Amino acid sequence: MNIVILTGAGISAESGLGTFRDKDGLWTRYRIEDVATPDAYARNPALVHEFYNLRRHGLRAAVPNAAHFALADLERRHSGGFLLVTQNVDDLHQRAGSQNVLAMHGQLQNALCAGCGHVWPAPDLMFPEDRCACCDAPLCRPDLVWFGEDVRFLDQIIAATEKADLFALIGTSGNVHPAAGLMELARECGAATVEINLEPSAVASAADRVILGRATEMVPRWVADILSGQSGGSHRMAGPSE
Ligand code: OAD
Repeated sequence: MNIVILTGAGISAESGLGTFRDKDGLWTRYRIEDVATPDAYARNPALVHEFYNLRRHGLRAAVPNAAHFALADLERRHSGGFLLVTQNVDDLHQRAGSQNVLAMHGQLQNALCAGCGHVWPAPDLMFPEDRCACCDAPLCRPDLVWFGEDVRFLDQIIAATEKADLFALIGTSGNVHPAAGLMELARECGAATVEINLEPSAVASAADRVILGRATEMVPRWVADILSGQSGGSHRMAGPSE
């Protein structure tokens, strides 16, 4: 059985990292066009660096939670194919022990030279005047995908999704494409689909099964079901009391 999992900010919420679109989410306090586009960086790199410096600081203090560990355990113990696709720029899946992870929106803990493409571990604080150690250009930025830029590993992600027997969407609102279209693609290609979220996502209609509740509670329970061979794609809407 091939398993593909897509995660979003909700899986890291209980590690203390903010989500984007929930009440008090990052996009209620900052405008995407001020901090998360190439134009924003060109216009005001200091503000963009300040935004990501704060997020990097938050990430350093965060640790993986039970949901991250459960997915790492699933990968370790599952005998078929396994791919974890994440929209998250934190490294909590990797720190929990997940191996086959594709971070389609990049990685906050790395820096990238927009001049020569050199990537290195980001320092705590980045500033517009920083220079690349390779080419000396003052074009250092977080190693992230901004709105309007191409997501990473898309061909690989689509190929795995088309071959999935089980596709799970966890902790994402399903508002950002192309990630948001993957569950529908998996279903069209014959996978059983499941969503685990606090509230149904914008793409919940593509889920055979929607499990509503906190990731730290629902993900370990769902993983235990799969590992004990009870995963089945039932079609009911289930709540936290399931
Ligand atoms: P959102 O903030 O849009 O959605 C978070 C989802 O997590 C919502 O569906 C919540 O219901 C759910 N959620 C919150 N707390 C949860 C918990 N404890 N347990 C389970 N679910 C919980 O975040 P994403 O969908 O990840 O992109 O956002 C997608 C992309 O938009 C991000 O990668 C980022 C953002 O702009 C870029 O910056 C390029």
